[in-house]
Amino acid sequence: MTQIRHILSASQFDRPFLDRIYHLTNKIRQFDKSKEGLMYLQSLLPHQRAMLYFTQPSTRTFLSFQSACHILGIKNSEIRDTSTSSEMKGESIEDSLRTFSSYVDLIIMRSPVRGLCDRIANLLDQSERPVPIINAGSGPDEHPTQALLDIYTLQRSFKDFGGLEGKTICMVGDLKRGRTIRSLARLLTLFPGTRIIFASPEAFRIENDLRSFLQTSKFEFLETDQFSDAIYQSDAIYMTRIQDEYDTTVGESSKVDSSKFFLNASHLKHLKSTAVIMHPLPRRNELDPVIDKDPRAKYWRQERNGMWTRVALMTTLLGVDQKILLPEL
Ligand code: CP
Repeated sequence: MTQIRHILSASQFDRPFLDRIYHLTNKIRQFDKSKEGLMYLQSLLPHQRAMLYFTQPSTRTFLSFQSACHILGIKNSEIRDTSTSSEMKGESIEDSLRTFSSYVDLIIMRSPVRGLCDRIANLLDQSERPVPIINAGSGPDEHPTQALLDIYTLQRSFKDFGGLEGKTICMVGDLKRGRTIRSLARLLTLFPGTRIIFASPEAFRIENDLRSFLQTSKFEFLETDQFSDAIYQSDAIYMTRIQDEYDTTVGESSKVDSSKFFLNASHLKHLKSTAVIMHPLPRRNELDPVIDKDPRAKYWRQERNGMWTRVALMTTLLGVDQKILLPEL
């Protein structure tokens, strides 16, 4: 299994790592069932401190990481608005992050800047405080921990239906700038026989680097603008919103008609009975809230899975995963 110091990209994970996170997350959820179990989890890392540096908006990634810290007894500090930090006085991001490393044992960061996490990990590795970095979303580039929780949700959803292998996953929406798509597509190549249908408007098709990676991996995928035809073939529908925060001109995204890529109640009768509907959230109008009541809707469970998979990830990174795997409940 891959030994990991920083979590920067989904391409770091191999199949044994994913299977181990799956197993670990299930064990952690068992601990959650009793007060004794939760107290045990809290006793694992009370001597550790984490920094949450989120300079791009976030609800669930921030809160699930913060909650994961609380579950493990880790104390956390945060910066969410650089107008309250010395970056306002002209301090570079590099110096800011290096300063955090003076005070904490782990840095979890979200930034609009592509590649920043890699740069900071490299910088800290050459410093006297090489603390681990977790990428919690880097511009339109990668969201590796979202991909971990998505894989966990898929594995769990299909555990009684032959597993994730061989399933067809339909990814829908803004595939060009959706970082969850980029990270999840990479991980799906680790599941033999799985295929992806990418359904999007022409303007939001996947980027060339992902297309080349999938081709080189000899992974089966299809790109289409006929979402309604893809629905009945799919075992999972993975909806995403239009990422207009990356528009280079005002209203650029609104010039693209995305309405054919919305999932609504009328589609449900075409969807397999064992299929699952996912969304990294937040959503807008691409996923009708009426669907929330359908048993195939897994997105609320998916976001809660995010907290548990992040607990599993932090125990692995901070070296206490064996303390989860060994004790009998
Ligand atoms: N899925 C996700 O990254 O959500 P937030 O932007 O709310 O963290």
